[in-house]
Amino acid sequence: MPKRSSEAPSPLAGAFDIAGFRAGLLGWFAANARDLPWRRTLDPYHVWLSEIMLQQTQMDRAVQYFERFLARFPDVSSLALAHEDEVLKLWEGLGYYSRARNLMAAARVILNGHGGVFPATFEAVRALPGVGPYTAGAVMSVAYNDHRPAVDANVERVLSRVLDIDRPVSEPAVKRRILAAAWELVPPGESRAFNQGLMELGALICAPRKPDCPRCPVSGLCLARERGTALSRPVPTAKPETIRVDMACGVLVTGGQVFIQKRRRGDVWPGLWEFPGGVMEPGETPEAAMVREFREETELRVRPVGKIAVVRTSYTRYRITLHGYFCQAEPGQDPASDHRLHEADEARLVRPQELGVFAFPSGHARLLTRMLTDVRLEGLLTSAD
Ligand code: ADE
Repeated sequence: MPKRSSEAPSPLAGAFDIAGFRAGLLGWFAANARDLPWRRTLDPYHVWLSEIMLQQTQMDRAVQYFERFLARFPDVSSLALAHEDEVLKLWEGLGYYSRARNLMAAARVILNGHGGVFPATFEAVRALPGVGPYTAGAVMSVAYNDHRPAVDANVERVLSRVLDIDRPVSEPAVKRRILAAAWELVPPGESRAFNQGLMELGALICAPRKPDCPRCPVSGLCLARERGTALSRPVPTAKPETIRVDMACGVLVTGGQVFIQKRRRGDVWPGLWEFPGGVMEPGETPEAAMVREFREETELRVRPVGKIAVVRTSYTRYRITLHGYFCQAEPGQDPASDHRLHEADEARLVRPQELGVFAFPSGHARLLTRMLTDVRLEGLLTSAD
């Protein structure tokens, strides 16, 4: 077990009441812990899955997806043997699909490298694809009560207030100080409750904009509370500017079916399905961009036959406006055999009622919903191209 040297200076203030902090937090958590599905078991597979889902996802949403996911993949082996398309489909709507791909890769490592038994050391858990120091700390402490901290954004906020840290938590020195403080605070034999309690406190009481200090079990030990700085802790990091992007795509309807293509490995959203399209060039109309992109990506010549919708979505710092069109192939081509893919691994012609089994990035998924409820679709499906 890694230990801090007893000679190292404490990251906590001189007379900090560690015992009082532990007792206050543990007592509060025992009385206030939310009843979350992964808290009803100590199965490391459940704990790991919940931790991966909770990264970048709100609690309510994670609970919903967690139960659905476990119903389909109840253990590591079933996930290791799953088809990627099915896992991505179950993940649709959660975003950050690399999490789902890493889950599958990690499940295969566990099946092939650990005999199907979830690893029980920090090093082995940390070595799984998609598992960083926080997730490994959380899995090890929550599933095995292993003595170590688990510092996520909630914990960073709580501790930056308790210690009244006046620098952004994105700074490496601040990160190190918070981690060292968390090591010092975690009580031997109680990391499971303590770490979850600290996260829970961040989620329920020590909220970003409205900390409920009167109900906080450790407010008497909080420097930011004493100095009136809680609302400006943690000190915000300058955010990268958002970038606006206009895109257009085409839903090619032909012979009662719709043309979709599977995004390439190594590209954004690998393995997800989409309608061909791309970024509009300066001065280009969305219709023209759709026709050009369709041709560049598939070598098919299409013409727009109706606008489906404009949907807005975001991806990391990009704010995307997506213009979606119904389109048909120009005469003299058979989309089934004449396409040549330049931006995708695979294409299919699919009847609309079968589209539900394919996973799409959020903008295309929203367009799909609009398209399936569009009264013009029926006419296009039955018309000769
Ligand atoms: N956020 C991520 N993991 C959590 C946990 N185990 N308890 C509370 N909040 C969390």
